[in-house]
Amino acid sequence: MKAIVYTQYGPPEVAQLKEMPIPQPKDNEVLVKVHASTVNRTDSGFRSAEYFVSRFWSGLLRPKLPILGCEFAGVVEQIGKDVTAFNIGDKVFGFNDKTFGGHAEYLCMPQDQGIAVMPQNFDFNEAAAIAEGAHYALVDIRAAKVQAGQEVLVYGATGAIGSAAVQLLKHFGARITAVCNTQNVDLVKRLGADVVIDYQTQDFTQTNTLFHFIFDAVGKSSYRQCKPLLTEKGIYISTELGKRGVNILLALTTPLWGGKKLLFPIPTITQEDVVFLKELAENGSFKPVIDRSYPMADIVEAYRYVESGQKTGNVVLEIVQH
Ligand SMILES: NC(=O)c1ccc[n+]([C@@H]2O[C@H](COP(=O)([O-])OP(=O)(O)OC[C@H]3O[C@@H](n4cnc5c(N)ncnc54)[C@H](OP(=O)(O)O)[C@@H]3O)[C@@H](O)[C@H]2O)c1
Repeated sequence: MKAIVYTQYGPPEVAQLKEMPIPQPKDNEVLVKVHASTVNRTDSGFRSAEYFVSRFWSGLLRPKLPILGCEFAGVVEQIGKDVTAFNIGDKVFGFNDKTFGGHAEYLCMPQDQGIAVMPQNFDFNEAAAIAEGAHYALVDIRAAKVQAGQEVLVYGATGAIGSAAVQLLKHFGARITAVCNTQNVDLVKRLGADVVIDYQTQDFTQTNTLFHFIFDAVGKSSYRQCKPLLTEKGIYISTELGKRGVNILLALTTPLWGGKKLLFPIPTITQEDVVFLKELAENGSFKPVIDRSYPMADIVEAYRYVESGQKTGNVVLEIVQH
């Protein structure tokens, strides 16, 4: 099968299109013929090993698993003998940041860890982009215990995480103020923001609103900058570690004082989360924003674009071009 393979950590060029053997499903696994995947910041993070800590999972000196791609959508082609949840021919999608494998024509997935039947109204490209940004957003929204009617600010509302966060917060009934650039103001309003602050013309820190939760989905703000905008027990979460990893230190110390605090939840995803996102997709509450797509042969270009920090929503990797 064709696969994007990396055998060393480094820049986008370490990812190369190669022939690899088709994986064989274990007893509790399904073999998926992948139609679409995404190229995202999780893939970039593991490939570059920019944060050394990722190597504790992926291999200290070189990658243990040669194929990235944590998201996928495709068709079940074979099932292990213990599989009861899926049948051959089912259209499925999901997320796997333990063994990855979506950047290939075939991947094996355990039947009970982050895989579900595709939303009926979605094509493969849309289904492939459901889980990465949305599950990070979901973990953080749950950690902040957002209730209907609460004021929430989403900084960087147009990344994969931010664009999912706005839609999920809308679903949970929050009142959303979203920060983005001029050209994305209409998009963010369509996603559900009640108030939009264009960071190119306005300074978001000058708003008069106080927020129960400030979610920096692109890691460009700081707790210090946002603290005055929080309610008495308001919560700040960023998707990045902050300057010199300060967010880890603040996550350990600020909850001790009982007032405003910074949290740094560890991202997790369950089968139930994937099914939950599928249901939101089917009832029209969530649709991943897709910026553009690339064929497998253009993987290096795709990574470069993702790492420009300027993608809007998700970048799809078309394994089968429809
Ligand atoms: N290491 C990992 O495993 C990992 C995994 C997932 C995510 N993350 C981190 O999570 C963050 C979000 O990732 P993502 O994929 O959702 O999005 P992303 O690709 O990092 O962000 C793209 C968006 O960021 C916005 N942006 C860029 N500069 C901005 C600024 N100065 N102020 C406000 N917005 C700005 C842009 O929106 P505008 O066009 O509106 O400017 C663009 O839509 C990233 O920092 C990423 O590194 C890390």
